[in-house]
Amino acid sequence: MPAKVRKAVFPAAGLGTRFLPATKAQPKEMLPLVDKPIIQYGVEEAIHSGIQNIIMVTGRGKSAIEDHFDVSFELENMLESRGKKELLNIVRAVSDMIDVSYIRQKEALGLGHAVLRARELVGPEPFACVLADDVIDAETPCLRQLLDIYEFFNAPVLAVMEVPKESISAYGVVDAEPISHNGCKDRVFRIRDLVEKPNANEAPSNLAIIGRYVLTPEIFHSISNVQPGSGSEIQLTDALRHLLRSRPIYAYRFEGKRYDAGDKLGFLKATVEFALRRHDLGKDFREYLRTLEY
Ligand code: UTP
Repeated sequence: MPAKVRKAVFPAAGLGTRFLPATKAQPKEMLPLVDKPIIQYGVEEAIHSGIQNIIMVTGRGKSAIEDHFDVSFELENMLESRGKKELLNIVRAVSDMIDVSYIRQKEALGLGHAVLRARELVGPEPFACVLADDVIDAETPCLRQLLDIYEFFNAPVLAVMEVPKESISAYGVVDAEPISHNGCKDRVFRIRDLVEKPNANEAPSNLAIIGRYVLTPEIFHSISNVQPGSGSEIQLTDALRHLLRSRPIYAYRFEGKRYDAGDKLGFLKATVEFALRRHDLGKDFREYLRTLEY
């Protein structure tokens, strides 16, 4: 039986330069999609996937994330004294959600480096890694889908999606062979190689790695062994490539829709679609959109 995945690492120490000036004094992870910070979507997905502990890797200027998942006595007292029971419940639900630990990445030296910072807190067990910028709407939470594959193959699994050729160079890309699983031949792949941000003409496939991973603790050794790569950062993709020499790694083309909320256009799409789906807002918002001339 593969060891159970109990912990999820959330690297959240990036600088968020694509959202400047909004991210000058606040973390991009706290930008709201409608009324919920980006990072809370990821935390809820992890909880719904069975994760029990969250480890956030944060950096300078990220204290709002810690405050968000902590108890806010002043706010709770104020809501209670004003009889705002519904809002009080919403606020309490966030701090009651799950145990969160924090570790700092002092300098944004890359995603691989951020994951390595969590080594002591993860310990010798498999763990999930969630990049909260990728907000995924799915019937079965994307991380749960990956955990099911991990439990079957007892090996690391990366979430991938098909991406058009013109945008492939923004991603880590896998060279992978399809594997039959549960009667399906186009969801599970055994990875042959991986490359971070290839030129469109050199990309080994159209399968891009997105921000959900199930990893085993050997990845820490691999991260320690890779040199800075694309963008002079220590890349998780390069560490996975190193790990691939000693053990199989799988890719899973997940079911669901992914929004890149770390990018302005992706953030806007998620905002509009999530608002349209809301019971309290959807109808009025749809009517408003219809009145726009574009
Ligand atoms: P991004 O590539 O989106 O970079 O990081 P970024 O710095 O957050 O944003 P931009 O590109 O400047 O706008 C992908 C994920 O890896 C984390 C980020 O927080 C994000 O979740 N990350 C990246 C770190 O935790 N540390 C790093 O050194 C780099």
